[in-house]
Amino acid sequence: MTPAPAIAALAETPLAAGELRLEPLRPGHAEPLFDGLADPALYRFIPQQPPADAAALRARFERLAARRSPAGDQAWLNWAVRVAADGTYAGLVEATVGSGGAADIAYFVFRGRQGRGIGRRAVGAVVEALAAEPAITAIGASIDTRNAASVTLVEALGFERTGLVRDADHFKGGSSDEYRYQLPLRR
Ligand SMILES: CC(C)(COP(=O)(O)OP(=O)(O)OC[C@H]1O[C@@H](n2cnc3c(N)ncnc32)[C@H](O)[C@@H]1OP(=O)(O)O)[C@@H](O)C(=O)NCCC(=O)NCCS
Repeated sequence: MTPAPAIAALAETPLAAGELRLEPLRPGHAEPLFDGLADPALYRFIPQQPPADAAALRARFERLAARRSPAGDQAWLNWAVRVAADGTYAGLVEATVGSGGAADIAYFVFRGRQGRGIGRRAVGAVVEALAAEPAITAIGASIDTRNAASVTLVEALGFERTGLVRDADHFKGGSSDEYRYQLPLRR
């Protein structure tokens, strides 16, 4: 089952939150996002590794620009977060939507820009757009139990903790316990 056309359309839709502009991710975002995304500190609680170089990031963004997995069973919605006032980029918000319409979110705010509400506003804008789309049946996130900033962020957006998976993943020389969060969709 392929993602609904409305979800494909949402993937191409720019979003805004106050002074933040969320631009549907394009390969050309690789250069301006590279320095921020290359910071190993961003990956402390997630299995991913920083991109090796801007070319590797561009290759990844080219795959993501298809907006769907090669098998066609997932929609890939990604937005580069830009600060309108100075045109700089501050992060990235990702939503992966399965064929049944369940969305899983992930997000990065570059280290020098953290702690100023950018994550909350940018992720909030994506969550609001997903929640307004009837083809989206659920919105969830899996978060390492040590990731206090991410836990605080989703709870501030109204997500509720629905589970704890011990040893959910193994990376960077240790095991990761994960909370599962879901946003109650009030429709
Ligand atoms: C999680 C992340 C996106 C938060 O971005 P941010 O722009 O700093 O977040 P905000 O400034 O909007 O803060 C959101 C909330 O988290 C709180 N917070 C921020 N950093 C925190 C920290 N280190 N510890 C505890 N709480 C923290 C803020 O006080 C705020 O709470 P409030 O709304 O009650 O005031 C950012 O820390 C990040 O990119 N981390 C690395 C990547 C990552 O782990 N992503 C999540 C994967 S699930």
